[in-house]
Amino acid sequence: MTPAAAALQAPDTQGNILTVEHLTMRFGGLIAIDDISFEAKDKEITAIIGPNGAGKTTVFNCLTGFYKPSVGRLTLHHPVKGNFLLEQMEGFRIPQNASVARTFQNIRLFSSMSVLENLVVAQHNALMQASAFTFAGLFGLKRYQDAEKEAVERAKYWLDRVRLTDRADWEAGNLPYGAQRRLEIARAMCTDPVLLCLDEPAAGLNPRESAELNDLLIFIRDEHDIGLLLIEHDMSVVMGISDHIVVLDYGRKISDGSPQDVRNDPAVIRAYLGEEEDEDLPPEVVKDLEQDKERHSGKDGEGED
Ligand SMILES: Nc1ncnc2c1ncn2[C@@H]1O[C@H](COP(=O)(O)OP(=O)(O)OP(=O)(O)O)[C@@H](O)[C@H]1O
Ligand SMILES: [Mg+2]
Repeated sequence: MTPAAAALQAPDTQGNILTVEHLTMRFGGLIAIDDISFEAKDKEITAIIGPNGAGKTTVFNCLTGFYKPSVGRLTLHHPVKGNFLLEQMEGFRIPQNASVARTFQNIRLFSSMSVLENLVVAQHNALMQASAFTFAGLFGLKRYQDAEKEAVERAKYWLDRVRLTDRADWEAGNLPYGAQRRLEIARAMCTDPVLLCLDEPAAGLNPRESAELNDLLIFIRDEHDIGLLLIEHDMSVVMGISDHIVVLDYGRKISDGSPQDVRNDPAVIRAYLGEEEDEDLPPEVVKDLEQDKERHSGKDGEGED
């Protein structure tokens, strides 16, 4: 084995599930992501925040194979299978082999299938493997029948977790918006990921649903022991549940640290409060940030006296 191959096999010793190095994504003349590096730890919630157009969804699209990055290395440290270089993988292999799952900013469910069918279809890969990819396997192999039973059990488990058991037979497209968002998370979890990427899961949720989402994400982190990457504008979700926050602005990383560090970082305050961006934050957070800012400028003044 070459040293490079050996390094790729070696497990990460820092507890990281993901290492992003020098990620750059260009669309013609537009640089959507400009040399971003960060790490996300296993069993933690890492939030990626930033104003509209900052490049957050583009990061997810690079991680999940929708885009091939112009430059950069994206290493998924799988706790059992070793390291995967996501930027070199075909898109469909990323969920299948590297066990990275995602949800979308605009919900993408199979809207004319039932809620339960959405969750079973998500487990297609495991079922096909159990059938040994043969017609006979589908009908004859006990292994396939066991896998099918397991797929239904897993679907039932997640239906229960997202409170949709009583609507298992509904057409997914007929569910209220908040329930569709929960179903998308359940569908992603049915693929048994090691890294779950959520693109604005609280968008369009009312405060009660938003609080419930917090509980669900904490449950996933703590009981299923996986890493979560969370893009979110709702600061009550971000500040309430994130272990670590990465802040992007105009395609660049402007801050990276604990919620407390990021909240007090002048670069973040500028990005959010400078020039008409404050509508991204709820009024109570804007007030908090302004008070922090006043406190800081007060301190500076005292120092000079
Ligand atoms: N396929 C594409 N072709 C051209 N430009 C793109 C493409 N995808 C994204 N962009 C551009 O890249 C920039 C970053 O977009 P992105 O969707 O990643 O932002 P975002 O941070 O997710 O914003 P929002 O909070 O509004 O969802 C934007 O200027 C966007 O127009
Ligand atoms: Mg986006």
